[in-house]
Amino acid sequence: MIGDTESKKQAGIAAANLVQSGMGVGLGTGSTVFFALERLAERQKREGLKFFGVSTSFSTALLCRKFGIELRDSGSVSYLDLAIDGADEIDKNLNLIKGRGAAHLLEKVVASLAAQFVVVADFSKCVENLGEKFPVPLEILPAALGLVEADIKKLGGEFSIRMAGACKDGPTISDSGNIIVDANFGSIKDPVALSKKLDSIPGLLGHGLFAGLAKEAFIAGKAGVEHILL
Ligand code: A5P
Repeated sequence: MIGDTESKKQAGIAAANLVQSGMGVGLGTGSTVFFALERLAERQKREGLKFFGVSTSFSTALLCRKFGIELRDSGSVSYLDLAIDGADEIDKNLNLIKGRGAAHLLEKVVASLAAQFVVVADFSKCVENLGEKFPVPLEILPAALGLVEADIKKLGGEFSIRMAGACKDGPTISDSGNIIVDANFGSIKDPVALSKKLDSIPGLLGHGLFAGLAKEAFIAGKAGVEHILL
């Protein structure tokens, strides 16, 4: 796991404390969101908090089942009060790279449904420029793999199919059945411009550059939790 576990826990708890009864809440994916889910389950039991969640992955849906959190399908809602999600890199304008866990396509849909999108992370995720540590994850329609590869290379990106590893031969397949690729652009000077270019590639169903989406974050470190509002 990348980052400091106790800091992740404090950031997750701070965001979970924003949830109020009656809300619809987008639930991101990853080890920081785990602590938000745990806190929400605790608030359901102790305070009688009532809300429904919209999950961004099979992984989060399984945790919600374990924690007794009611879920609705993302396709069945057109508005959420709040969405809580982690990030792999965060710049000072709260532009993000997401998708280490290959959930970035649905994570962007769910974040975009929400009136308030709150990022939770530990301080190790903060960078000067996006792309310093992480490539940009892509989700690609299998039939468009060749086209997207050519377009990414034209934009100066290195294109590597993410392999599934020990549990399966071949590529990582997303929860929606598409191919996950990591595109390395090096240090990204203008995330908004790159995001728009990626948005325009046919067959590139989603990418992990979240530019201009987040206006709020809880970022935790040894000194406590910082609440950032743009
Ligand atoms: C999932 O695909 C990712 O976007 C995660 O939200 C991101 O990697 C943050 O995960 P952690 O909270 O586990 O660091």
